[in-house]
Amino acid sequence: MAGFIAREFIDELLVRIDIVDLINSHVPLKKTGINYSSRCPFHDEKTPSFSVSPKRQAYHCFGCGVGGNAISFLMEYAHLEFVEAVEDLAAFIGIDVPKEVGNYPTTSRKTDDLAGIYLILQAVAKFYAQQLKSNPVAQIAIQYLKDRGLSGIIARDFQLGYAPNSWDELKRRFEVKLLIQAGLVIKKEDGASYDRFRGRLMFPIRDKRNRVIGFGARVLDDSLPKYLNSPETTVFSKSNEVYGLHELLQYVPKPVRILIVEGYMDVIALAQFGVHYAVATLGTAVSKIHLDILFRFTPELVLCFDGDVAGKKAAWRGIEAVMPALRDGRQIKIMILPAEQDPDSLIRAIGHEKFLEKISQAQALSEYFFEYIIAALDLSTLEGRAGLVQQAQPHLERLPKGVFKDMMLSKLRQLGEVPELVFSEKPTILHNKLALSEDKGEFSPARVAIGLLIQNPTLSVVGMEKIAVLEIFEYDSNGLKMLKNILATIRTYQPTNMGRLLELYRDTNEEKVLRLLSNWDFLLPEAGIEKEFLGAITRLQEQEQEHQFEAMSLLTKHPAQTWSLEEKQQLIKSLQQND
Ligand code: UTP
Ligand code: MN
Repeated sequence: MAGFIAREFIDELLVRIDIVDLINSHVPLKKTGINYSSRCPFHDEKTPSFSVSPKRQAYHCFGCGVGGNAISFLMEYAHLEFVEAVEDLAAFIGIDVPKEVGNYPTTSRKTDDLAGIYLILQAVAKFYAQQLKSNPVAQIAIQYLKDRGLSGIIARDFQLGYAPNSWDELKRRFEVKLLIQAGLVIKKEDGASYDRFRGRLMFPIRDKRNRVIGFGARVLDDSLPKYLNSPETTVFSKSNEVYGLHELLQYVPKPVRILIVEGYMDVIALAQFGVHYAVATLGTAVSKIHLDILFRFTPELVLCFDGDVAGKKAAWRGIEAVMPALRDGRQIKIMILPAEQDPDSLIRAIGHEKFLEKISQAQALSEYFFEYIIAALDLSTLEGRAGLVQQAQPHLERLPKGVFKDMMLSKLRQLGEVPELVFSEKPTILHNKLALSEDKGEFSPARVAIGLLIQNPTLSVVGMEKIAVLEIFEYDSNGLKMLKNILATIRTYQPTNMGRLLELYRDTNEEKVLRLLSNWDFLLPEAGIEKEFLGAITRLQEQEQEHQFEAMSLLTKHPAQTWSLEEKQQLIKSLQQND
Protein backbone atom coordinates (compact mmCIF):
# COMPACT_ATOMS: atom_id res chain seq x y z
CA MET A 1 0.00 0.00 0.00
CA ALA A 2 1.37 3.36 -0.92
CA GLY A 3 0.34 6.67 0.54
CA PHE A 4 1.19 9.01 3.33
CA ILE A 5 1.03 8.36 6.99
CA ALA A 6 0.66 11.20 9.44
CA ARG A 7 3.78 12.15 11.36
CA GLU A 8 1.76 12.09 14.60
CA PHE A 9 0.87 8.48 14.02
CA ILE A 10 4.46 7.49 13.36
CA ASP A 11 5.59 9.23 16.49
CA GLU A 12 2.86 7.53 18.48
CA LEU A 13 4.03 4.19 17.14
CA LEU A 14 7.57 4.91 18.23
CA VAL A 15 6.34 5.89 21.67
CA ARG A 16 4.39 2.67 22.07
CA ILE A 17 6.93 0.27 20.68
CA ASP A 18 9.95 -0.93 22.58
CA ILE A 19 12.78 -1.43 20.14
CA VAL A 20 14.24 -4.14 22.37
CA ASP A 21 11.08 -6.25 22.00
CA LEU A 22 10.95 -5.63 18.30
CA ILE A 23 14.54 -6.55 17.54
CA ASN A 24 14.48 -9.41 20.01
CA SER A 25 11.62 -10.96 18.05
CA HIS A 26 13.96 -11.18 15.04
CA VAL A 27 17.40 -11.46 16.60
CA PRO A 28 17.71 -12.90 20.11
CA LEU A 29 19.28 -10.23 22.33
CA LYS A 30 21.31 -10.55 25.51
CA LYS A 31 21.32 -7.95 28.25
CA THR A 32 24.76 -6.42 28.63
CA GLY A 33 24.75 -3.57 31.14
CA ILE A 34 22.11 -1.01 30.29
CA ASN A 35 22.03 -2.11 26.66
CA TYR A 36 21.27 -5.31 24.81
CA SER A 37 23.54 -6.95 22.30
CA SER A 38 23.89 -9.77 19.80
CA ARG A 39 25.88 -10.73 16.75
CA CYS A 40 25.06 -8.22 14.05
CA PRO A 41 22.28 -9.36 11.68
CA PHE A 42 23.67 -7.09 8.96
CA HIS A 43 27.15 -8.50 8.63
CA ASP A 44 28.95 -11.73 9.48
CA GLU A 45 30.83 -11.65 12.72
CA LYS A 46 31.99 -13.97 15.47
CA THR A 47 31.71 -11.67 18.48
CA PRO A 48 28.67 -9.49 19.16
CA SER A 49 29.06 -5.84 18.25
CA PHE A 50 25.41 -5.10 17.59
CA SER A 51 23.93 -3.04 20.38
CA VAL A 52 20.36 -1.99 21.15
CA SER A 53 19.71 0.88 23.55
CA PRO A 54 16.34 0.96 25.33
CA LYS A 55 17.05 4.48 26.51
CA ARG A 56 17.72 5.82 23.06
CA GLN A 57 15.28 3.47 21.35
CA ALA A 58 17.92 2.89 18.72
CA TYR A 59 20.32 0.22 17.53
CA HIS A 60 23.88 0.46 16.36
CA CYS A 61 26.56 -1.93 15.15
CA PHE A 62 30.11 -1.03 16.09
CA GLY A 63 31.36 -3.45 13.47
CA CYS A 64 29.63 -2.36 10.28
CA GLY A 65 28.25 1.00 11.36
CA VAL A 66 24.54 0.44 10.68
CA GLY A 67 22.15 2.12 13.05
CA GLY A 68 18.73 3.69 13.42
CA ASN A 69 15.35 3.38 15.09
CA ALA A 70 12.65 0.71 15.04
CA ILE A 71 11.40 1.71 11.60
CA SER A 72 14.91 1.72 10.14
CA PHE A 73 15.48 -1.70 11.62
CA LEU A 74 12.49 -3.20 9.85
CA MET A 75 13.38 -1.47 6.60
CA GLU A 76 16.90 -2.85 6.72
CA TYR A 77 16.26 -6.22 8.26
CA ALA A 78 13.10 -7.20 6.43
CA HIS A 79 13.94 -5.20 3.29
CA LEU A 80 10.79 -3.12 3.54
CA GLU A 81 9.80 0.22 2.15
CA PHE A 82 9.08 2.91 4.70
CA VAL A 83 5.31 2.53 4.56
CA GLU A 84 5.59 -1.24 4.75
CA ALA A 85 7.81 -0.96 7.80
CA VAL A 86 5.31 1.34 9.49
CA GLU A 87 2.54 -1.14 8.71
CA ASP A 88 4.51 -4.03 10.13
CA LEU A 89 5.43 -2.06 13.21
CA ALA A 90 1.77 -1.19 13.77
CA ALA A 91 0.87 -4.85 13.33
CA PHE A 92 3.55 -5.79 15.85
CA ILE A 93 1.79 -3.84 18.57
CA GLY A 94 -1.64 -4.66 17.23
CA ILE A 95 -2.93 -1.36 15.93
CA ASP A 96 -4.11 -0.26 12.48
CA VAL A 97 -2.44 2.35 10.34
CA PRO A 98 -5.05 5.05 9.73
CA LYS A 99 -5.71 5.08 5.99
CA GLU A 100 -6.23 8.81 5.63
CA VAL A 101 -5.33 11.35 8.23
CA GLY A 102 -5.95 15.05 7.82
CA ASN A 103 -5.11 16.24 4.35
CA TYR A 104 -2.65 13.50 3.57
CA PRO A 105 -3.55 11.96 0.23
CA THR A 106 -3.39 8.25 -0.30
CA THR A 107 -2.68 6.75 -3.66
CA SER A 108 -4.75 3.61 -3.34
CA ARG A 109 -8.17 3.63 -4.92
CA LYS A 110 -10.50 4.41 -2.12
CA THR A 111 -13.25 2.11 -3.22
CA ASP A 112 -11.00 -0.95 -3.26
CA ASP A 113 -10.89 -3.22 -0.28
CA LEU A 114 -7.14 -3.85 -0.01
CA ALA A 115 -7.22 -6.50 2.67
CA GLY A 116 -9.99 -8.25 0.78
CA ILE A 117 -8.01 -8.20 -2.45
CA TYR A 118 -4.95 -9.73 -0.83
CA LEU A 119 -7.08 -12.39 0.80
CA ILE A 120 -8.85 -13.38 -2.37
CA LEU A 121 -5.62 -13.53 -4.37
CA GLN A 122 -4.20 -15.81 -1.72
CA ALA A 123 -7.29 -17.98 -1.71
CA VAL A 124 -7.37 -18.23 -5.48
CA ALA A 125 -3.68 -19.17 -5.65
CA LYS A 126 -4.42 -21.95 -3.21
CA PHE A 127 -7.42 -23.03 -5.23
CA TYR A 128 -5.38 -23.20 -8.45
CA ALA A 129 -2.65 -25.21 -6.70
CA GLN A 130 -5.24 -27.66 -5.38
CA GLN A 131 -6.72 -28.02 -8.83
CA LEU A 132 -3.30 -28.90 -10.22
CA LYS A 133 -2.84 -31.57 -7.58
CA SER A 134 -6.26 -33.14 -7.44
CA ASN A 135 -8.49 -32.25 -10.37
CA PRO A 136 -8.28 -35.03 -13.02
CA VAL A 137 -8.63 -32.46 -15.81
CA ALA A 138 -5.34 -30.90 -14.64
CA GLN A 139 -3.60 -34.02 -15.83
CA ILE A 140 -2.64 -32.21 -19.05
CA ALA A 141 -0.95 -29.51 -16.98
CA ILE A 142 0.94 -32.12 -14.93
CA GLN A 143 1.99 -33.80 -18.14
CA TYR A 144 3.11 -30.45 -19.55
CA LEU A 145 5.28 -29.78 -16.50
CA LYS A 146 6.77 -33.26 -16.77
CA ASP A 147 7.49 -32.78 -20.45
CA ARG A 148 9.33 -29.60 -19.60
CA GLY A 149 11.31 -31.46 -16.99
CA LEU A 150 9.98 -29.70 -13.91
CA SER A 151 9.86 -31.55 -10.62
CA GLY A 152 6.94 -31.73 -8.19
CA ILE A 153 9.08 -30.05 -5.56
CA ILE A 154 9.77 -27.02 -7.69
CA ALA A 155 6.09 -26.81 -8.66
CA ARG A 156 5.27 -26.74 -4.95
CA ASP A 157 7.95 -24.18 -4.08
CA PHE A 158 6.61 -21.79 -6.69
CA GLN A 159 3.03 -22.72 -5.86
CA LEU A 160 2.23 -23.49 -9.47
CA GLY A 161 -1.42 -24.13 -10.21
CA TYR A 162 -3.97 -24.90 -12.84
CA ALA A 163 -6.94 -22.78 -13.87
CA PRO A 164 -9.70 -25.11 -15.10
CA ASN A 165 -11.00 -24.44 -18.55
CA SER A 166 -14.29 -22.89 -17.54
CA TRP A 167 -15.80 -19.39 -17.54
CA ASP A 168 -17.08 -19.29 -14.01
CA GLU A 169 -14.87 -21.52 -11.87
CA LEU A 170 -13.84 -18.63 -9.62
CA LYS A 171 -17.12 -16.79 -9.90
CA ARG A 172 -18.93 -19.75 -8.42
CA ARG A 173 -16.63 -19.84 -5.41
CA PHE A 174 -15.61 -16.28 -4.53
CA GLU A 175 -17.11 -12.83 -4.26
CA VAL A 176 -17.35 -11.37 -7.76
CA LYS A 177 -16.74 -7.76 -6.73
CA LEU A 178 -13.42 -8.70 -5.15
CA LEU A 179 -12.52 -10.97 -8.06
CA ILE A 180 -12.92 -8.00 -10.39
CA GLN A 181 -10.86 -5.70 -8.16
CA ALA A 182 -8.16 -8.37 -8.00
CA GLY A 183 -8.09 -8.66 -11.80
CA LEU A 184 -9.24 -12.28 -11.77
CA VAL A 185 -12.61 -11.72 -13.40
CA ILE A 186 -13.27 -9.57 -16.45
CA LYS A 187 -16.41 -7.47 -16.51
CA LYS A 188 -17.85 -6.64 -19.89
CA GLU A 189 -19.69 -3.46 -20.83
CA ASP A 190 -23.03 -5.26 -20.79
CA GLY A 191 -22.44 -6.24 -17.18
CA ALA A 192 -21.66 -9.89 -17.85
CA SER A 193 -18.46 -11.20 -16.31
CA TYR A 194 -16.19 -14.22 -16.66
CA ASP A 195 -12.96 -15.75 -15.31
CA ARG A 196 -9.84 -14.23 -16.86
CA PHE A 197 -7.64 -17.31 -16.73
CA ARG A 198 -8.95 -20.55 -18.24
CA GLY A 199 -7.19 -23.81 -19.02
CA ARG A 200 -3.78 -22.40 -18.17
CA LEU A 201 -0.81 -23.22 -16.02
CA MET A 202 -0.77 -20.59 -13.26
CA PHE A 203 2.25 -18.82 -11.81
CA PRO A 204 1.34 -16.81 -8.73
CA ILE A 205 3.35 -13.59 -8.47
CA ARG A 206 4.17 -12.73 -4.88
CA ASP A 207 5.61 -9.61 -3.37
CA LYS A 208 8.58 -9.91 -1.05
CA ARG A 209 6.23 -10.12 1.91
CA ASN A 210 4.76 -13.30 0.49
CA ARG A 211 1.45 -11.80 -0.51
CA VAL A 212 0.05 -12.95 -3.84
CA ILE A 213 -0.43 -9.84 -5.96
CA GLY A 214 -1.16 -11.29 -9.39
CA PHE A 215 -0.68 -14.19 -11.78
CA GLY A 216 1.09 -15.16 -14.93
CA ALA A 217 -0.69 -17.84 -16.95
CA ARG A 218 0.71 -20.05 -19.70
CA VAL A 219 -1.17 -21.98 -22.35
CA LEU A 220 -0.44 -25.69 -22.51
CA ASP A 221 -0.11 -25.80 -26.28
CA ASP A 222 1.05 -23.51 -29.05
CA SER A 223 -1.94 -21.22 -29.05
CA LEU A 224 -1.63 -17.49 -28.55
CA PRO A 225 -1.19 -15.45 -26.53
CA LYS A 226 1.36 -17.72 -24.88
CA TYR A 227 1.14 -15.88 -21.58
CA LEU A 228 -1.62 -13.88 -19.99
CA ASN A 229 -0.86 -11.74 -16.99
CA SER A 230 -2.94 -10.06 -14.33
CA PRO A 231 -3.90 -6.51 -15.31
CA GLU A 232 -2.71 -3.55 -13.26
CA THR A 233 -4.69 -3.47 -10.02
CA THR A 234 -4.50 -1.63 -6.74
CA VAL A 235 -1.99 -4.17 -5.50
CA PHE A 236 -0.23 -5.10 -8.72
CA SER A 237 1.91 -2.94 -10.97
CA LYS A 238 4.00 -4.84 -13.52
CA SER A 239 6.81 -2.34 -13.73
CA ASN A 240 7.28 -2.26 -9.96
CA GLU A 241 7.54 -5.97 -9.37
CA VAL A 242 9.70 -8.89 -10.30
CA TYR A 243 8.81 -12.55 -10.39
CA GLY A 244 10.51 -14.90 -7.97
CA LEU A 245 11.88 -12.46 -5.39
CA HIS A 246 10.04 -13.95 -2.45
CA GLU A 247 11.05 -17.47 -3.45
CA LEU A 248 14.65 -16.32 -3.90
CA LEU A 249 14.79 -14.76 -0.44
CA GLN A 250 13.44 -17.98 1.06
CA TYR A 251 16.48 -19.81 -0.28
CA VAL A 252 19.11 -17.12 0.03
CA PRO A 253 18.31 -14.16 2.28
CA LYS A 254 21.54 -12.38 1.34
CA PRO A 255 22.39 -13.36 -2.23
CA VAL A 256 25.87 -12.58 -3.52
CA ARG A 257 24.27 -11.73 -6.83
CA ILE A 258 20.88 -11.80 -8.47
CA LEU A 259 20.26 -12.81 -12.07
CA ILE A 260 17.59 -10.93 -13.97
CA VAL A 261 16.02 -13.02 -16.70
CA GLU A 262 13.01 -12.61 -18.95
CA GLY A 263 10.66 -15.48 -18.29
CA TYR A 264 8.77 -17.19 -15.50
CA MET A 265 10.00 -20.51 -16.81
CA ASP A 266 13.59 -19.31 -16.72
CA VAL A 267 13.35 -18.49 -13.01
CA ILE A 268 11.80 -21.84 -12.23
CA ALA A 269 14.16 -23.93 -14.33
CA LEU A 270 17.20 -22.16 -12.88
CA ALA A 271 15.91 -22.84 -9.37
CA GLN A 272 15.41 -26.49 -10.18
CA PHE A 273 19.01 -26.67 -11.34
CA GLY A 274 20.24 -25.09 -8.15
CA VAL A 275 20.51 -21.47 -9.28
CA HIS A 276 18.16 -20.05 -6.66
CA TYR A 277 18.99 -16.42 -7.23
CA ALA A 278 17.14 -15.48 -10.39
CA VAL A 279 14.14 -13.22 -10.85
CA ALA A 280 12.22 -12.21 -13.97
CA THR A 281 10.70 -8.96 -15.09
CA LEU A 282 7.02 -9.30 -15.89
CA GLY A 283 7.02 -8.99 -19.64
CA THR A 284 8.47 -5.48 -19.42
CA ALA A 285 11.99 -4.27 -20.15
CA VAL A 286 14.31 -4.05 -17.17
CA SER A 287 14.13 -0.60 -15.62
CA LYS A 288 15.78 1.51 -12.96
CA ILE A 289 12.89 0.69 -10.64
CA HIS A 290 13.69 -3.02 -10.83
CA LEU A 291 17.32 -2.35 -10.12
CA ASP A 292 16.64 -0.11 -7.18
CA ILE A 293 14.47 -2.84 -5.67
CA LEU A 294 16.99 -5.59 -6.25
CA PHE A 295 20.06 -3.67 -5.12
CA ARG A 296 18.49 -3.60 -1.70
CA PHE A 297 19.19 -7.31 -1.45
CA THR A 298 22.49 -7.72 -3.23
CA PRO A 299 25.47 -5.69 -4.44
CA GLU A 300 25.63 -7.41 -7.84
CA LEU A 301 23.05 -7.82 -10.58
CA VAL A 302 23.56 -9.90 -13.69
CA LEU A 303 21.27 -9.02 -16.59
CA CYS A 304 20.70 -11.94 -18.96
CA PHE A 305 19.88 -11.24 -22.59
CA ASP A 306 19.37 -13.40 -25.65
CA GLY A 307 22.31 -13.72 -28.02
CA ASP A 308 20.42 -12.64 -31.14
CA VAL A 309 20.32 -9.13 -32.56
CA ALA A 310 17.06 -8.35 -30.77
CA GLY A 311 18.59 -9.51 -27.50
CA LYS A 312 21.64 -7.32 -27.95
CA LYS A 313 19.43 -4.35 -28.72
CA ALA A 314 17.43 -5.13 -25.61
CA ALA A 315 20.69 -5.28 -23.66
CA TRP A 316 21.63 -1.82 -24.86
CA ARG A 317 18.20 -0.42 -24.03
CA GLY A 318 18.54 -2.05 -20.64
CA ILE A 319 21.91 -0.44 -20.09
CA GLU A 320 20.55 2.97 -21.01
CA ALA A 321 17.70 2.52 -18.58
CA VAL A 322 19.79 1.33 -15.67
CA MET A 323 22.73 3.74 -15.86
CA PRO A 324 21.13 6.18 -13.41
CA ALA A 325 20.80 3.36 -10.88
CA LEU A 326 24.53 2.78 -10.84
CA ARG A 327 26.28 3.99 -7.77
CA ASP A 328 29.55 3.11 -6.13
CA GLY A 329 29.34 -0.31 -4.61
CA ARG A 330 26.71 -1.45 -7.07
CA GLN A 331 27.88 -3.82 -9.75
CA ILE A 332 25.96 -4.63 -12.91
CA LYS A 333 27.05 -7.35 -15.27
CA ILE A 334 25.78 -8.26 -18.67
CA MET A 335 25.38 -11.89 -19.66
CA ILE A 336 24.68 -12.48 -23.33
CA LEU A 337 23.35 -15.98 -23.91
CA PRO A 338 24.25 -18.13 -26.92
CA ALA A 339 21.89 -17.59 -29.87
CA GLU A 340 18.58 -19.45 -29.71
CA GLN A 341 18.89 -20.13 -25.99
CA ASP A 342 17.14 -18.77 -22.95
CA PRO A 343 18.36 -19.49 -19.41
CA ASP A 344 15.88 -22.36 -19.11
CA SER A 345 17.06 -24.16 -22.23
CA LEU A 346 20.71 -23.30 -21.61
CA ILE A 347 20.96 -24.71 -18.11
CA ARG A 348 19.22 -27.88 -19.28
CA ALA A 349 21.68 -28.18 -22.13
CA ILE A 350 24.92 -27.51 -20.26
CA GLY A 351 24.07 -28.20 -16.61
CA HIS A 352 24.63 -26.36 -13.36
CA GLU A 353 28.45 -26.18 -13.34
CA LYS A 354 28.84 -24.86 -16.86
CA PHE A 355 26.06 -22.39 -16.29
CA LEU A 356 27.90 -20.99 -13.27
CA GLU A 357 30.95 -20.65 -15.48
CA LYS A 358 28.89 -18.59 -17.91
CA ILE A 359 27.73 -16.37 -15.06
CA SER A 360 31.29 -15.81 -13.97
CA GLN A 361 32.17 -14.78 -17.51
CA ALA A 362 29.49 -12.09 -17.56
CA GLN A 363 30.96 -8.75 -18.55
CA ALA A 364 31.01 -5.72 -16.28
CA LEU A 365 28.60 -3.12 -17.59
CA SER A 366 31.47 -0.64 -17.95
CA GLU A 367 33.30 -2.95 -20.33
CA TYR A 368 30.21 -3.91 -22.24
CA PHE A 369 29.25 -0.27 -22.57
CA PHE A 370 32.46 0.73 -24.33
CA GLU A 371 32.68 -2.44 -26.37
CA TYR A 372 29.18 -1.98 -27.69
CA ILE A 373 29.82 1.57 -28.86
CA ILE A 374 33.30 0.89 -30.18
CA ALA A 375 32.17 -2.13 -32.21
CA ALA A 376 30.75 0.20 -34.86
CA LEU A 377 33.63 2.71 -34.83
CA ASP A 378 37.23 2.94 -35.96
CA LEU A 379 39.15 4.50 -33.11
CA SER A 380 42.28 4.95 -35.19
CA THR A 381 40.53 7.84 -36.90
CA LEU A 382 39.68 11.20 -35.45
CA GLU A 383 36.06 10.78 -36.58
CA GLY A 384 35.83 7.45 -34.81
CA ARG A 385 37.12 8.88 -31.55
CA ALA A 386 34.85 11.90 -31.83
CA GLY A 387 31.93 9.53 -32.44
CA LEU A 388 32.81 7.60 -29.33
CA VAL A 389 32.85 10.70 -27.16
CA GLN A 390 29.66 11.96 -28.72
CA GLN A 391 27.80 8.71 -28.11
CA ALA A 392 29.19 7.80 -24.73
CA GLN A 393 29.31 11.11 -22.95
CA PRO A 394 25.55 11.76 -22.64
CA HIS A 395 25.13 8.37 -20.97
CA LEU A 396 27.99 8.87 -18.59
CA GLU A 397 26.74 12.27 -17.56
CA ARG A 398 23.59 10.60 -16.28
CA LEU A 399 25.56 8.50 -13.84
CA PRO A 400 25.28 9.53 -10.21
CA LYS A 401 28.37 11.31 -8.92
CA GLY A 402 31.01 9.03 -7.53
CA VAL A 403 34.07 6.98 -8.15
CA PHE A 404 32.36 4.87 -10.77
CA LYS A 405 31.39 7.91 -12.81
CA ASP A 406 34.90 9.36 -12.56
CA MET A 407 36.35 6.07 -13.68
CA MET A 408 34.06 5.84 -16.70
CA LEU A 409 34.79 9.40 -17.72
CA SER A 410 38.50 8.91 -17.42
CA LYS A 411 38.22 5.77 -19.54
CA LEU A 412 36.33 7.80 -22.13
CA ARG A 413 39.03 10.48 -22.17
CA GLN A 414 41.62 7.79 -22.62
CA LEU A 415 39.84 5.91 -25.41
CA GLY A 416 38.74 9.07 -27.16
CA GLU A 417 42.19 10.58 -26.70
CA VAL A 418 40.72 13.83 -25.44
CA PRO A 419 42.39 15.58 -22.51
CA GLU A 420 39.21 17.35 -21.39
CA LEU A 421 35.52 16.69 -21.71
CA VAL A 422 33.17 19.63 -21.90
CA PHE A 423 30.12 19.08 -19.77
CA SER A 424 26.63 20.16 -20.49
CA GLU A 425 25.50 19.78 -16.91
CA LYS A 426 25.45 22.72 -14.56
CA PRO A 427 28.02 22.69 -11.80
CA THR A 428 26.51 21.55 -8.52
CA ILE A 429 26.07 24.27 -5.98
CA LEU A 430 28.46 23.32 -3.26
CA HIS A 431 27.74 26.00 -0.71
CA ASN A 432 24.25 24.62 -0.31
CA LYS A 433 25.59 21.41 1.05
CA LEU A 434 26.43 21.10 4.67
CA ALA A 435 30.15 21.22 5.16
CA LEU A 436 29.57 18.68 7.89
CA SER A 437 28.60 15.96 5.47
CA GLU A 438 31.74 16.26 3.43
CA ASP A 439 34.64 15.63 5.76
CA LYS A 440 35.82 12.51 7.49
CA GLY A 441 34.18 13.04 10.84
CA GLU A 442 36.41 15.00 13.16
CA PHE A 443 35.28 15.84 16.65
CA SER A 444 34.55 19.57 16.23
CA PRO A 445 32.65 21.32 19.02
CA ALA A 446 29.57 21.53 16.81
CA ARG A 447 29.69 17.85 16.05
CA VAL A 448 30.14 16.86 19.64
CA ALA A 449 27.26 19.11 20.68
CA ILE A 450 25.01 17.82 17.91
CA GLY A 451 25.96 14.20 18.46
CA LEU A 452 25.31 14.35 22.19
CA LEU A 453 22.07 16.23 21.64
CA ILE A 454 20.72 13.72 19.14
CA GLN A 455 21.60 10.85 21.39
CA ASN A 456 20.10 12.61 24.41
CA PRO A 457 17.38 15.03 23.23
CA THR A 458 16.57 16.01 26.84
CA LEU A 459 19.88 17.88 26.93
CA SER A 460 18.06 20.73 25.19
CA VAL A 461 16.37 21.49 28.50
CA VAL A 462 19.50 21.07 30.59
CA GLY A 463 21.51 23.44 28.46
CA MET A 464 18.75 25.96 27.86
CA GLU A 465 20.52 29.02 29.29
CA LYS A 466 23.80 28.29 27.62
CA ILE A 467 22.11 27.51 24.37
CA ALA A 468 20.22 30.77 24.46
CA VAL A 469 23.53 32.58 24.01
CA LEU A 470 23.95 30.86 20.66
CA GLU A 471 20.79 32.51 19.38
CA ILE A 472 22.49 35.90 19.07
CA PHE A 473 24.81 34.97 16.26
CA GLU A 474 23.88 36.17 12.87
CA TYR A 475 26.43 34.54 10.63
CA ASP A 476 26.08 30.95 11.71
CA SER A 477 28.53 28.28 10.66
CA ASN A 478 26.98 25.19 9.13
CA GLY A 479 27.47 23.32 12.37
CA LEU A 480 25.63 25.94 14.39
CA LYS A 481 22.84 26.12 11.81
CA MET A 482 22.39 22.41 12.16
CA LEU A 483 22.41 22.57 15.94
CA LYS A 484 19.77 25.30 15.92
CA ASN A 485 17.70 23.31 13.48
CA ILE A 486 17.75 20.30 15.80
CA LEU A 487 16.99 22.39 18.85
CA ALA A 488 13.97 23.89 17.10
CA THR A 489 12.78 20.42 16.15
CA ILE A 490 13.15 19.17 19.69
CA ARG A 491 11.23 22.16 21.01
CA THR A 492 8.41 21.66 18.54
CA TYR A 493 8.00 17.90 18.65
CA GLN A 494 9.58 17.04 22.00
CA PRO A 495 10.94 13.63 21.07
CA THR A 496 12.14 12.07 24.28
CA ASN A 497 14.64 9.72 22.72
CA MET A 498 16.93 9.39 19.73
CA GLY A 499 14.71 6.94 17.87
CA ARG A 500 11.87 9.45 17.75
CA LEU A 501 14.14 12.35 16.89
CA LEU A 502 15.78 10.52 13.99
CA GLU A 503 12.37 9.73 12.58
CA LEU A 504 11.58 13.44 12.26
CA TYR A 505 14.54 13.77 9.92
CA ARG A 506 13.84 10.84 7.62
CA ASP A 507 14.32 11.83 3.96
CA THR A 508 15.54 15.32 4.81
CA ASN A 509 18.84 16.95 3.81
CA GLU A 510 20.05 16.65 7.38
CA GLU A 511 19.39 12.94 7.66
CA LYS A 512 22.80 11.75 6.53
CA VAL A 513 24.74 13.86 9.00
CA LEU A 514 22.36 13.06 11.79
CA ARG A 515 22.69 9.37 11.20
CA LEU A 516 26.45 9.66 11.20
CA LEU A 517 26.51 11.52 14.47
CA SER A 518 23.85 9.33 16.01
CA ASN A 519 26.26 6.43 15.68
CA TRP A 520 29.21 8.17 17.26
CA ASP A 521 30.38 6.59 20.44
CA PHE A 522 31.55 9.31 22.83
CA LEU A 523 32.64 6.75 25.41
CA LEU A 524 31.18 8.86 28.19
CA PRO A 525 29.75 7.64 31.46
CA GLU A 526 26.08 8.57 31.89
CA ALA A 527 27.03 11.20 34.50
CA GLY A 528 29.52 12.93 32.20
CA ILE A 529 27.21 13.54 29.26
CA GLU A 530 25.77 16.82 30.47
CA LYS A 531 29.14 18.33 31.36
CA GLU A 532 30.61 17.34 28.02
CA PHE A 533 27.63 18.82 26.20
CA LEU A 534 27.88 22.16 28.01
CA GLY A 535 31.61 22.22 27.39
CA ALA A 536 31.06 21.68 23.69
CA ILE A 537 28.50 24.50 23.62
CA THR A 538 31.01 26.84 25.28
CA ARG A 539 33.71 25.94 22.79
CA LEU A 540 31.26 26.32 19.94
CA GLN A 541 30.30 29.74 21.25
CA GLU A 542 33.93 30.86 21.26
CA GLN A 543 34.43 29.54 17.81
CA GLU A 544 31.33 31.26 16.55
CA GLN A 545 32.40 34.60 18.00
CA GLU A 546 35.59 34.29 16.06
CA HIS A 547 33.71 33.32 12.98
CA GLN A 548 31.15 36.05 13.49
CA PHE A 549 33.85 38.62 13.82
CA GLU A 550 35.56 37.48 10.66
CA ALA A 551 32.29 37.63 8.80
CA MET A 552 31.69 41.16 9.98
CA SER A 553 35.18 42.36 9.33
CA LEU A 554 34.95 40.94 5.86
CA LEU A 555 31.89 43.04 5.38
CA THR A 556 33.55 46.16 6.69
CA LYS A 557 36.93 45.25 5.18
CA HIS A 558 38.84 45.67 8.41
CA PRO A 559 42.03 43.64 8.80
CA ALA A 560 40.66 41.17 11.32
CA GLN A 561 44.00 39.44 11.90
CA THR A 562 45.40 42.39 13.81
CA TRP A 563 42.77 42.23 16.54
CA SER A 564 43.17 40.16 19.67
CA LEU A 565 40.44 37.75 20.76
CA GLU A 566 39.61 40.02 23.67
CA GLU A 567 39.16 42.99 21.41
CA LYS A 568 36.95 41.00 19.13
CA GLN A 569 34.79 39.87 22.01
CA GLN A 570 34.51 43.43 23.19
CA LEU A 571 33.48 44.59 19.80
CA ILE A 572 30.83 41.92 19.57
CA LYS A 573 29.49 42.84 22.98
CA SER A 574 29.24 46.46 22.02
CA LEU A 575 27.54 45.54 18.77
CA GLN A 576 25.04 43.46 20.66
CA GLN A 577 24.31 46.26 23.03
CA ASN A 578 23.72 48.59 20.15
CA ASP A 579 21.08 46.25 18.74
P1 UTP B 1 9.23 -15.93 -23.32
O1 UTP B 1 8.41 -16.21 -24.51
O2 UTP B 1 10.71 -15.88 -23.47
O3 UTP B 1 8.79 -16.83 -22.13
O4 UTP B 1 8.71 -14.58 -22.71
P2 UTP B 1 9.43 -18.11 -21.42
O5 UTP B 1 9.37 -17.87 -19.97
O6 UTP B 1 10.72 -18.50 -22.02
O7 UTP B 1 8.31 -19.14 -21.73
P3 UTP B 1 8.38 -20.59 -22.30
O8 UTP B 1 9.75 -21.10 -22.04
O9 UTP B 1 8.06 -20.49 -23.73
O10 UTP B 1 7.32 -21.24 -21.53
C1 UTP B 1 9.33 -14.02 -21.59
C2 UTP B 1 8.31 -13.37 -20.72
O11 UTP B 1 7.57 -12.40 -21.43
C3 UTP B 1 6.23 -12.36 -20.99
C4 UTP B 1 6.16 -13.33 -19.83
O12 UTP B 1 6.41 -12.63 -18.62
C5 UTP B 1 7.27 -14.30 -20.15
O13 UTP B 1 7.72 -15.03 -19.01
N1 UTP B 1 5.29 -12.75 -22.05
C6 UTP B 1 5.66 -13.53 -23.07
C7 UTP B 1 3.99 -12.30 -21.96
O14 UTP B 1 3.65 -11.59 -21.02
N2 UTP B 1 3.09 -12.67 -22.92
C8 UTP B 1 3.42 -13.47 -23.95
O15 UTP B 1 2.54 -13.80 -24.77
C9 UTP B 1 4.75 -13.89 -24.04
MN1 MN C 1 11.61 -20.25 -22.45
